[in-house]
Formats: sequence, structure tokens, C-alpha cells
Amino acid sequence: MVRYAIDHLREADLDDVHAIDTSSFSMPWSIDTYRQELRAPQRSRYVVARFLVADTPPVPPPLHSVRTRLFGMLGQSDGAPAPLSGTIVGHAGIMRTPTDGHITTLAVLPEHRRQGVGELLLLALIEHAYDLGVRSLTLEVRTSNMAAQQLYAKYGFFIMHTVAGYYRDNHEDAVVMVIADITSLSFREQTKERSDALYQRLIHKNPRT
Ligand SMILES: CC(C)(COP(=O)(O)OP(=O)(O)OC[C@H]1O[C@@H](n2cnc3c(N)ncnc32)[C@H](O)[C@@H]1OP(=O)(O)O)[C@@H](O)C(=O)NCCC(=O)NCCS
Repeated sequence: MVRYAIDHLREADLDDVHAIDTSSFSMPWSIDTYRQELRAPQRSRYVVARFLVADTPPVPPPLHSVRTRLFGMLGQSDGAPAPLSGTIVGHAGIMRTPTDGHITTLAVLPEHRRQGVGELLLLALIEHAYDLGVRSLTLEVRTSNMAAQQLYAKYGFFIMHTVAGYYRDNHEDAVVMVIADITSLSFREQTKERSDALYQRLIHKNPRT
């Protein structure tokens, strides 16, 4: 059974999201920063991952597309369906810039890591990137953050360059990672394969039941 589902981020969720940020980042965003982002849906999209409560119907088994799986239970991805019930265990965001789609944040509560939630969130951002009409994706990540770099590499991001002393708290370098063309057939096929594998994993392995 799949116990995690993607939902839209809403203002009512911001305390939970801030708690995840605080447990995940040395420089967490303020709640106000998220609030500003939520007010610009034409350029910024934010999602949360929820750990579904026991009586929530499970996410449908493998369907036709990544989009259907991620957003099928929500109806229109750009509509305003009712929130799913379940604890927020992760969140992520993407912003359209003049040149690309920039992943602004992605984090999972420590006790829910290594179960595929990071991948679910990344897949949701990729779907939003198509909605936003961007072709390439970029992000920055700390050079020491191998967990995140491996997650991004698994989905086809490659290291473009590093920015010396990018992070203000400890002057750590940032690695800039890029996917050049999310509209290419090869990227779409690779993403579909990754999504299939993730859903098989989520269906067959649920250590919490
Ligand atoms: C990075 C992060 C979001 C990953 O979330 P997660 O839910 O644990 O990731 P998943 O379970 O979906 O793992 C997907 C892939 O990521 C990589 N990965 C995740 N955690 C890893 C770890 N501790 N070590 C090595 N690789 C790791 C692996 O490639 C993994 O694929 P696999 O299961 O086939 O090995 C999570 O560790 C986190 O919240 N970290 C703190 C916040 C952060 O650093 N965010 C990124 C900012 S750029």
C-alpha cells in the first residue's frame, strides 16, 4: 500500500513546513517567505508530501502517467481541491525564472527519509515544471550534501559548476546542478522508468504497516 501522497502547499500548512525546514536546514526560510511564494502561482509552485492516515483510501496502483499518479487523487493539479488528511512529512518548491525552472527547496522529515518521499516530491516538481513551461531545471546544493546530490543525479541532474562560498552561514561552496531539457523524449522516458520503480517500491515496501 502507498502511504505517501503529494498535495498542494497551503497557507495553513506553513507551521508544519517551517518545522521541517528547521529540522533540515541550517538557514531555514521564514514563514513569510513561503507566504510570498504562495502568492505568485504564475511563477512558483509548492507541494507537500503527506503521510496518509490509516483510513484514507490508498493512492491508486500504477496508472498511465507520472502526472496521473501524482495528482490523480487531487483532480486538477491547478484546481483547489480539499486537502488530503495526513501529516505533512516533506515539501518542495520550484520557481520559473527568465531562463529556467529553479528548484528552491526540498526537504523530508528525518524520520521519513529513505522511503522514497524525496523522489515523490521531485517528481511533483518536474510535473509543475512542465506546467510552468520551462525547459531546463537548475538548483544549488551544498558540496557536503551527498544525499541530495545523489537524489538529483538519480533523476538526471548533472553538476554544471560550483559557486565558492555561496552559503552565508559557513561559507560552504554550492554545487549547481542542471537538467538541460526536460521536454526531451529521453528525459521523459527515464522519468517514467524512475516513477514506475518508485511506485513498485512504495507499493511493496511499507515498513510502517
Ligand atoms: C535529500 C532528501 C530530501 C532526500 O529525501 P529522502 O526522502 O530521504 O530521499 P528518497 O528516499 O526519495 O531517496 C531517493 C534517492 O536519493 C538518494 N539518497 C537519499 N538519501 C541518501 C543518503 N542518505 N545517502 C545517499 N543517497 C541518498 C539515493 O540516490 C536515493 O535513491 P535509492 O533509494 O535508490 O538509493 C533528505 O535527505 C533531506 O530532507 N535532507 C535535508 C534537506 C536537504 O538537504 N534538502 C536538499 C536541499 S538542495
